[in-house]
Amino acid sequence: MNFKLTINPIEDIKADIEIIIISEKNLDHRFVQDKELLEKSGFKSSQDETCLLIERDRLYVAVENISSINVRTAIATAIRVLANKSYKSIKIASYMNHPKCTTVLRGMVEGFVLGAYVFDRYKSEKSKLSIEDITISLDEYNEYQLDIEACTRAMNNGEIVANATNFTRDIVNTPPDDCYPKVMAKIAKNMAKENGLECIIIKPKELKKEKMETLLAVARASRHKPRVIHLAHKPENPKAIVTLVGKGLTYDSGGLSLKPSDFMVTMKSDKSGGSAVIGIMKAISEMNLPVEVHGFIGAVENMIGGDAYKPDDVLVAKNGKTIEIRNTDAEGRLVLADTLCYAQQEVKADYIFDMATLTGASVVGVGHYTSTIMGNSDKVKDSIIKYAKISGEFATKLDFNRYLKKSIKSEIADICNISNTRYGGAITAGQFLENFIDDDHKDKWVHIDIAGPAFVEHSWGENPHGASGAGVRMMTRFIEGLARPKK
Ligand code: BES
Ligand code: ZN
Ligand code: ZN
Repeated sequence: MNFKLTINPIEDIKADIEIIIISEKNLDHRFVQDKELLEKSGFKSSQDETCLLIERDRLYVAVENISSINVRTAIATAIRVLANKSYKSIKIASYMNHPKCTTVLRGMVEGFVLGAYVFDRYKSEKSKLSIEDITISLDEYNEYQLDIEACTRAMNNGEIVANATNFTRDIVNTPPDDCYPKVMAKIAKNMAKENGLECIIIKPKELKKEKMETLLAVARASRHKPRVIHLAHKPENPKAIVTLVGKGLTYDSGGLSLKPSDFMVTMKSDKSGGSAVIGIMKAISEMNLPVEVHGFIGAVENMIGGDAYKPDDVLVAKNGKTIEIRNTDAEGRLVLADTLCYAQQEVKADYIFDMATLTGASVVGVGHYTSTIMGNSDKVKDSIIKYAKISGEFATKLDFNRYLKKSIKSEIADICNISNTRYGGAITAGQFLENFIDDDHKDKWVHIDIAGPAFVEHSWGENPHGASGAGVRMMTRFIEGLARPKK
């Protein structure tokens, strides 16, 4: 897809089809032309409703009102209507709310790229989208002082982050026997090479030397050996240093505490946090942001076998803390514990975030659309939530408290890998992770549980069935915020 920005009036642009966004407010003269036809077809102008007028070469799509979030999902829906049709070029007005506000423009570009995504690698018949060129007209704002450079940057960044999200979706959607730790490391390495990032792959021998025994225990029963991946973007004079840690369970069978079969299906998506970290590294390097960013991914497969780690085992984490295992399906926190320790040993960061499909409890608590945000600093948590919202993701805080903290105490070790209460499982998992954050990073750390939105079973918004790429847009936006000069 090639995007072009122009100040030419939309009428003067040649294209196979025009997309027109309708909100109650912009039902002006131009749309009235088709008002009768739209009414005839029963068009109600409800968000994401589409109407293709083939003979007029116009595709209408409705939004509740013009906002970047609404335009993103409307455009994603509209582009799907054009799949398997022969239109090659689209023209569309910019629908910016204000000549200086470029967020709608970015949302529109993201909508096109995210909406056009399909995962058909394993289909004999591929879906076809013929669209090559998309021209966006800024004509409506011609009389104002337009900052074309800002508009172009918004479009480019939208395209970068949406492509990175699709890249993450591809990794997550790949079946577990085609994407295991070694493959994930290779994907990261290839991306790093293309984007000029540093990439170090830590293999089992070295993981052992680094005393990452909890990660190794989870990995032990799999024929696919684990990897820890370290990606780094190191610009000169960075404005801040950010560390990202991702859970990369290429498959989570539950281990000996085996998942029931219905719960095992979709567990290829347990690598969503790690895959998001790879996607974010791709986006921030393509944007060339003046922020140093390190990505660490714990890539492991959790399986069963004679060699499996067991409930009743006591493991020693990299920082020396002992962990009583009572459920081998609470493996993500074990992998993250060692990966977090390793990341903090390697990099002293201003911010450290971990992203993980960590608990079913997060989904039970807030639903399939929202990530849960935990940590000790309200300032950092609020900032992440703010950027999630701008980016088109949903995120909400879950507060720690001293009572739940006690529920992961163990009679025989320093802590237990599961809580002794049935409730608050997302928070107790977060509090487990806090045990592996050193004093210097306590207020710099935020844990993001993406178990809800990472994998989509019923398509919503700009997300088709399958991996959503959750976390990529919110975190890239946060890092973009750090890169911006302070006012
Ligand atoms: N990967 C799962 C969490 C998960 C569940 C992600 C559903 C996405 C959708 C994680 O490893 C897990 O199994 N957690 C257990 C923890 C429990 C044993 C304390 C869970 O949430 O049930
Ligand atoms: Zn599990
Ligand atoms: Zn898991």
